[in-house]
Amino acid sequence: MITRVFDVSAEPTAIPFAAEVIRQGGLVAFPTETVYGLGADALNADAAARIFAAKQRALNDPLIVHVGPPLVVVAGMRFGRASALNDLVRQQLVGALSARQRAQAQQLIQAFWPGPLTLVLPRGARIPPIVTAGRDTVAIRMPRHPIALALIETSGVPIAAPSANRFGHVSPTTAQHVLDDLSGRIDVVLDGGPTPIGIESTVLDLTGDSPAILRPGGLSRQDIERALGRWTMDDGRWTTDDRPEHTALSTEHSVASPGMLAKHYAPRAELRVVRSTAELLAVHQQLMGHGRRIGLLILEAQQDACADLQPVFVLGRDADSVAQNLYAGLRALDSAGVDVILVSEVEATGLGEAIADRLRRGAAKG
Ligand code: TXA
Ligand code: MG
Repeated sequence: MITRVFDVSAEPTAIPFAAEVIRQGGLVAFPTETVYGLGADALNADAAARIFAAKQRALNDPLIVHVGPPLVVVAGMRFGRASALNDLVRQQLVGALSARQRAQAQQLIQAFWPGPLTLVLPRGARIPPIVTAGRDTVAIRMPRHPIALALIETSGVPIAAPSANRFGHVSPTTAQHVLDDLSGRIDVVLDGGPTPIGIESTVLDLTGDSPAILRPGGLSRQDIERALGRWTMDDGRWTTDDRPEHTALSTEHSVASPGMLAKHYAPRAELRVVRSTAELLAVHQQLMGHGRRIGLLILEAQQDACADLQPVFVLGRDADSVAQNLYAGLRALDSAGVDVILVSEVEATGLGEAIADRLRRGAAKG
């Protein structure tokens, strides 16, 4: 198969072409605000099966279904987010919801869609079992990237899409990353430039006794807790109030999200996370002594201390730029052929929680 690549900004026909490929059951890689996704018609079981084959992804790892805003236009103004949940239920993408699930999903959708939040909800009748890996829940998100939204709207179907990388490899944040992993295995790549957030969406499970984060990601725990904190149970009904207390979210590191294998999000080289610049330099020295080739992923603030060392990939100044550049840095140092990648740990708050999670997984052995 020849993979066709389109620069979306230069080729206006790219999106209608790619939408037709989706409708015909083909595979299209496209940018979202988090990472590039590998999309297929979520209502077509054969198309979804092609995703698993192209990625060499295990069939027990469910896909995220990407939806667009419901098209409600009143007096020239577009309304969507508030009614998105009803739209999902009406389209039978989502099944029967409890009062709590409905209230919390509605609140989160209004606050954060379109955006980097994936909600796990009861599976509706129209979703083929292969998409959810046989589960009775479905993960749904409305991406914020204009190319993703245009592709969903033009194709007219929800799009099932995992990250567009080979299974177990780090997620792609550029079209070139997608091609490096999947060229010749998929029909189309829509090149929309580097993805703005650079780290995957936060996966939040609303089907358990209380909401639980299955994967920290582009939307912070603190933002979700703040939004959910306004919902309380009152006389058997879920209502909002102005009390400031938060809904503390648990984190499930278990089998709940089978894609979260420890050794995931990993470069080919061994990844080692150190606690300080001093430790970084000491470990570098020690590994050099053993003849290992070492690459460094550093912050701007560490550049002076590391001026004599190379190869070095500078991630940037703050958590936002580290998230944006982390996967590109891991891929670049892998391509440079190093044996070990050294990186300093980040503070695990806000977006830092997702970064710390990916570094921990990338460094996990086995
Ligand atoms: O930002 C993102 O989420 C990107 C872009 C393309 O949208 N997608 C992405 O997909 O990262 P993927 O397949 O690489 O990761 C999806 C995660 C996996 O950990 C999977 O196990 C989990 O979501 N997941 C999907 N459906 C689930 C379900 N029904 N229950 C629990 N976890 C689920
Ligand atoms: Mg993935």
